[in-house]
Amino acid sequence: MKPVNLGILGLGTVGGGTVNVLSRNAHEITRRAGRDIRILQAAARDLGRQRICDTSNIDLTEDPHAVVDNPDIDVVIELIGGDTLAKELVLRALDNGKHVVTANKALIAVHGNEIFAKASDKGVIVAFEAAVAGGIPIIKALREGLSGNQIEWLAGIINGTGNYILTGMRDRGADFETMLAQAQQLGYAEADPAFDVEGVDAAHKLTILAAIAFGIPLQFDKCYQEGITQITQDDVVYAEELGYRIKHLGIAKRRERGIELRVHPTLIPERRLIANVDDVMNAVLVKGDAVGSTLYYGAGAGADATASAVVADIVDVVRVLTVDPENRVPHLAFQADALSNLPILPMEEVETAYYLRMHAVDRPGVLADTTRILADHGISIEAIIQKKASPGSEQVPVIMLTHRTVEGNMNQAIAAIESLESIQGSVKRIRLEHLNR
Ligand code: NDP
Ligand code: HSE
Repeated sequence: MKPVNLGILGLGTVGGGTVNVLSRNAHEITRRAGRDIRILQAAARDLGRQRICDTSNIDLTEDPHAVVDNPDIDVVIELIGGDTLAKELVLRALDNGKHVVTANKALIAVHGNEIFAKASDKGVIVAFEAAVAGGIPIIKALREGLSGNQIEWLAGIINGTGNYILTGMRDRGADFETMLAQAQQLGYAEADPAFDVEGVDAAHKLTILAAIAFGIPLQFDKCYQEGITQITQDDVVYAEELGYRIKHLGIAKRRERGIELRVHPTLIPERRLIANVDDVMNAVLVKGDAVGSTLYYGAGAGADATASAVVADIVDVVRVLTVDPENRVPHLAFQADALSNLPILPMEEVETAYYLRMHAVDRPGVLADTTRILADHGISIEAIIQKKASPGSEQVPVIMLTHRTVEGNMNQAIAAIESLESIQGSVKRIRLEHLNR
């Protein structure tokens, strides 16, 4: 059978890794796909740049449009990133009747509805396994392996850079900037690393996971985002004293009135497997009504690990090239005309437990005032610790863990606590999840 021709857009971390894996495992990949797969052409911005892969047998160009317009190319692999040029190129490739594989979560989360509609019109596939959790085949697992289930919730460490930073801060007492610089050096970070540390990248990925888990359209603009920049060493240490780890989680949960969709730092009991997922590793915990809890773990970023997912998508595309478009696995797992309009819940309606840290004047009655406010808002306390004042200071750090309540309630309680004359500054709030039901 005729070989399948690929055109690769981007030869950076993931593009370079993809060329390497395709070349290193060519024999195994052909045995799986049933056809030879060859890279016909590739585009990069600067052809003079040193690459992590051998490009000597590839037709190289600095014009990515030449690749998507090349009539000999069957599948375009988009590994440029961003959602402007990448969007233009992907839509043009689809218009030209080419299948697309991409690792670009920003593109799929923000423009996926439009892209999938066009792909369906054209009868071609857009595959995006590498867009979520690097090398972990979580899209495949959710879309196919768990299709007998009603998914109740999922929670994941889905940004490798953020997890790498938090792990370094906890295990080595390293500072935030040093760890971020290392993550960039290793090729884990986004072109704009604010996407990693401000929660944007995780929100892109969670948006995709939620759409596939619940059969809803992609709704990135409704995903609550909070990053890791406000996490301090003190929080990490206090959380550990209370038996918890702080991880940056993406959480999507089906509730009666809608879907919770949120990314933020989260305290998790340290005995949970997911609390022990460190460095660049990612993990996604999925609760299905039939299967119960399942956990998917692996490298969340990096050249070869991400290439593993890109190449798996290439093999999938090659295997179904001759299958009728109507009989392929739908892009978002559910048939496009069967998506649900279950709303995304506003953050005020989210239900979770909390870690609160505040600085209180060290005198009788202060703790009682604070706990009374929580009680007045129907919030019960699970644990309290009061630390010693630093030398020369009259304020003591007070840390509380609460039971579950709705966020709107907690907002009001925090505002009332902050208005107490005995509480200095603002109350630090980190959400807490037990992930056990
Ligand atoms: P890199 O910055 O390492 O690579 C981007 C590539 O795109 C470079 O080769 C660059 O060329 C090329 N490029 C950029 N602009 C143009 C242009 N105008 N014309 C032609 N080529 C262009 O990014 P990554 O490989 O890290 O990321 C690529 C995608 O994969 C992103 O969507 C990212 O979110 C996603 N991803 C990344 C992961 C990772 O671990 N890094 C993991 C999972 C997904 P040149 O090299 O000449 O500058
Ligand atoms: N910057 C991303 C991360 C790459 O660190 O997780 C993988 O999507």
